[in-house]
Amino acid sequence: MWSFRTLYPLPSCQALSILGAMNIIDLRSDTVTKPSPEMRQAMATAEVGDDVLGDDPTVKELEKYVAGLFEREASLYVPSGTMGNQISLKANSRRGWELLCERQCHVVNYEAGGPVVHSGLLVNLLTTERGMIPAELVRKSIRPRNVHCPETKIVALENTHNHHGGTILPQEEVLRVKEVCDEFGLIFHLDGARIWNAHAATGLSLPELTRPFDTVSVCLSKGLGAPVGSMILGTEKFITRCHRERKLFGGAMRQVGIIAAGGLYAVKNNIGRLTEDHANARLLAEGLSRFDLFDIDLTRVQSNIVIVNIVSEELSDSVLERMAKVGVWALPFGSKDIRFVTHLDVSRADCEEALQRLDTVFN
Ligand SMILES: Cc1ncc(COP(=O)(O)O)c(C=O)c1O
Repeated sequence: MWSFRTLYPLPSCQALSILGAMNIIDLRSDTVTKPSPEMRQAMATAEVGDDVLGDDPTVKELEKYVAGLFEREASLYVPSGTMGNQISLKANSRRGWELLCERQCHVVNYEAGGPVVHSGLLVNLLTTERGMIPAELVRKSIRPRNVHCPETKIVALENTHNHHGGTILPQEEVLRVKEVCDEFGLIFHLDGARIWNAHAATGLSLPELTRPFDTVSVCLSKGLGAPVGSMILGTEKFITRCHRERKLFGGAMRQVGIIAAGGLYAVKNNIGRLTEDHANARLLAEGLSRFDLFDIDLTRVQSNIVIVNIVSEELSDSVLERMAKVGVWALPFGSKDIRFVTHLDVSRADCEEALQRLDTVFN
């Protein structure tokens, strides 16, 4: 039986022992990348100071650089995307408020219940086709303002949408949701862990994609290849509140410039190349679609994520075991789905090689 317990310890030790000397093509996530020699050099030589005392010049530079990139007043460096989202929600809310978000979103499904635990938020999960909540659905979901109902106060979207397969939110619909938020005085938050991929795929600028949102969190440790870190973006006033929340979450760090330097290197050097990951995902998706075992909706392959559905009786765990024997790693995404993600540490040749290896297993 598939379970979330099986989500991370993959592949199994058994599969590893069979692998022997074969090099592994790791398509589990874009979070598996290792810092390049150049990134390590930037980290090794970074100027550091005590960031809790406000003394770290590299963190200051990163925060200024990223705020500028998104044309925002301020930004804050935090240890993870989860903390970025949860601090944003907490700094935006009061206990008992209601959060509207998409049924498969990361903020609710993969952040250990953070919205209720940290912020006391009531969550209304809205079902969508591809991750975008239509403006009309947002409007219909806002509760009447009276003493009986919780106050619907926050809407959160995710772009690109991980669980829907890296789908990109249609910007015109995002703008329509923004109008509803303005009409009803709702706060609009973006989980932009992979906003860089939406930018690379659409050609829309980072400020254009994120301007409709009051608050944004973005990750440096996914497609951009930094080892650690995310950024929260917003007004000076909002970021000041987040600063306090970060302390409360235990996320204030001392000579953290040493890792922030990896993030700074990543935003300066690794945005432009994301189109390569998208081309590799397309190559992989088209190749995988030729295996009888898999069903893929190729129209959903819009960035660096490919989700395949297993059409036989087999469950994802057993298919992954067979893949691991030829050194190809991916993640189970439910009992009958598997997720492949392309990234900085897999080349086009690796994707071609992965398809050849899988051909020996599945054909
Ligand atoms: C869409 C999305 N948001 C947030 C996160 C959380 O990031 P982290 O793992 O750094 O906490 C992830 C992680 O994969 C993600 O996919």
